[in-house]
Amino acid sequence: MKDNRNILVTGGAGFIGSHTVVELINKGFNPVIVDDFRNSEAKVLKGIKAIVGQDPIMRFVDVTNKEQLKAVFEEFSFSGIIHFAAYKAVGESVAKPLVYYRNNIDGLLNCLELAEEFKVLNFVFSSSCTVYGEPKGTKIVTELSEMQEANSPYGATKQMCERIISDVHKSGSKMRMLNLRYFNPVGAHPTGNIGELPIGRPNNLIPYITQTAAGLLNELTVYGNDYNTNDGTCVRDYIHVVDLAEAHIKGYEWLNNLSEPRTETINVGTGNGTSVLEIIHTFEKVSNQSLNWKFGPRRDGDVEEIFADTSKAQELIGWNADRTIEDAIADAWNWEKKRRDE
Ligand code: WQD
Repeated sequence: MKDNRNILVTGGAGFIGSHTVVELINKGFNPVIVDDFRNSEAKVLKGIKAIVGQDPIMRFVDVTNKEQLKAVFEEFSFSGIIHFAAYKAVGESVAKPLVYYRNNIDGLLNCLELAEEFKVLNFVFSSSCTVYGEPKGTKIVTELSEMQEANSPYGATKQMCERIISDVHKSGSKMRMLNLRYFNPVGAHPTGNIGELPIGRPNNLIPYITQTAAGLLNELTVYGNDYNTNDGTCVRDYIHVVDLAEAHIKGYEWLNNLSEPRTETINVGTGNGTSVLEIIHTFEKVSNQSLNWKFGPRRDGDVEEIFADTSKAQELIGWNADRTIEDAIADAWNWEKKRRDE
């Protein structure tokens, strides 16, 4: 059969999903987005078109509704699935655990059951470094680093989803599956046509900084300066969203070339740790404007320091991050300014 280029992208209107759809189209794949815009906006589709010159294929689907999702499998024959659709705010998950377990687990179960039913072999899962919890000893985690108890229901759903995928593999499934453990996705497409669209007040650091600098928010609070790090603020591995999107393409192509069932897990980060204060100083250098910020108390659930050992990604799928933190912050700032012009 001709190499089928149809790929189902659940949550494809979201931050990472939309950037991955752009890279899939650039690589000659035919992504089909399913989304219900609960955590994104329909104008993302216009942004994708502005970059790739064609309307992305999209179906309005709640992935926790199996009948709705099944209709898309009946309409298209897919060679693979990239499953992004899930809630992902750490703090919100502590307040609404049942919403997170229902949405994140049901969405995965529907995708896997339908993949089995329709014999779709390739499956990429959007996982997260939050599965590691607070790393013990070294702050540089490999894929074999012990998973501590998750710091939040969000992290617990990602641990459970990876366990479900592992059990499906062990049951003798013919599927080839890849868990991508994202570190901190940041930035935007360099054209400024798509980027992060937090609904309401941003939880994450970079959009909070850019909205403060744009005058939408009054002041950034740095959550804690008494951590055991170089400057007392938390350290993370911030990865440019386009690098992250490219990792999905490389990962998918690797799966598609396999000749036997296999399941692997990969860290997707830069391998570098950056503190909150370093992010602020980089923003001020890149934007050439000072940021209004202050120190405040620690935020519950925050991990002190974590960043990725990325050697497996390089060895297994031949991928590593190319873009710098300056690139990511410059693209995030460009997006923040541009999206206000519309
Ligand atoms: C980063 C640092 C905060 C906001 C995120 C996602 C999670 C996962 C991993 C995908 C922390 C500090 C933040 C602010 C601050 N991604 N901060 N003031 O918590 O590492 O997790 O990436 O799966 O889904 O939530 O990212 O950007 O919220 O925080 O000081 O107003 O910035 O304390 O040290 P986090 P974040």
